[in-house]
Amino acid sequence: MANAHIRKAGLADVPAIHGLIQEASKTVPVIPRSQFEIYSMLRDFFVFDEGRGCQACCALHITWHDLAEVKSLVVDESLRGRGIGRDLVQACLDEARTLQVSQVFALTNVTDFFLKMGFSRTEKENLPQKIWGECVRCPKFPNCDETAVILDTGATLDTDIPLPRLT
Ligand SMILES: CC(C)(COP(=O)(O)OP(=O)(O)OC[C@H]1O[C@@H](n2cnc3c(N)ncnc32)[C@H](O)[C@@H]1OP(=O)(O)O)[C@@H](O)C(=O)NCCC(=O)NCCS
Repeated sequence: MANAHIRKAGLADVPAIHGLIQEASKTVPVIPRSQFEIYSMLRDFFVFDEGRGCQACCALHITWHDLAEVKSLVVDESLRGRGIGRDLVQACLDEARTLQVSQVFALTNVTDFFLKMGFSRTEKENLPQKIWGECVRCPKFPNCDETAVILDTGATLDTDIPLPRLT
């Protein structure tokens, strides 16, 4: 891991992840998550921990054999601007490459942050409709003002088995 304070999440991080997401969801369109849900997706999460527990988090959720989503990206307000958000997304991208996932997307209100990381804007309609299940839980639904961004990881899935595309 390029940032020595970034690691995979563990069970003890759940209350802090929950708190970070709850707090952020009051002011920005980050989807609030119950602790139950965070336990369920815990293995998706990376956290930033300088020795005082989790103070930033980000999840990589696999959607399909060729697609994954960066979700629940939150850096504690007091630590913003130190490159932690970038390093967390980088950890997700590295993991996507390790898993041979070829594309990673995000739905975001911080488009420039993702563009700086090499993502490009894409039309939401280019993303498979099946990913929209969570949108109904967004405080802004159905008036979505988020931007879809996507990045080619350069990875290709090493298999001879024909896999269907998600439509
Ligand atoms: C967005 C967020 C994760 C950024 O984390 P951060 O640790 O402050 O960002 P970094 O320090 O890693 O910034 C990396 C680069 O992105 C830029 N950047 C950071 N926040 C940005 C923003 N809100 N808009 C545009 N650019 C931004 C930085 O200036 C920096 O650019 P540089 O490399 O040219 O210096 C953080 O502000 C946050 O938690 N926001 C609230 C939750 C949220 O909106 N999450 C996104 C949901 S998709």
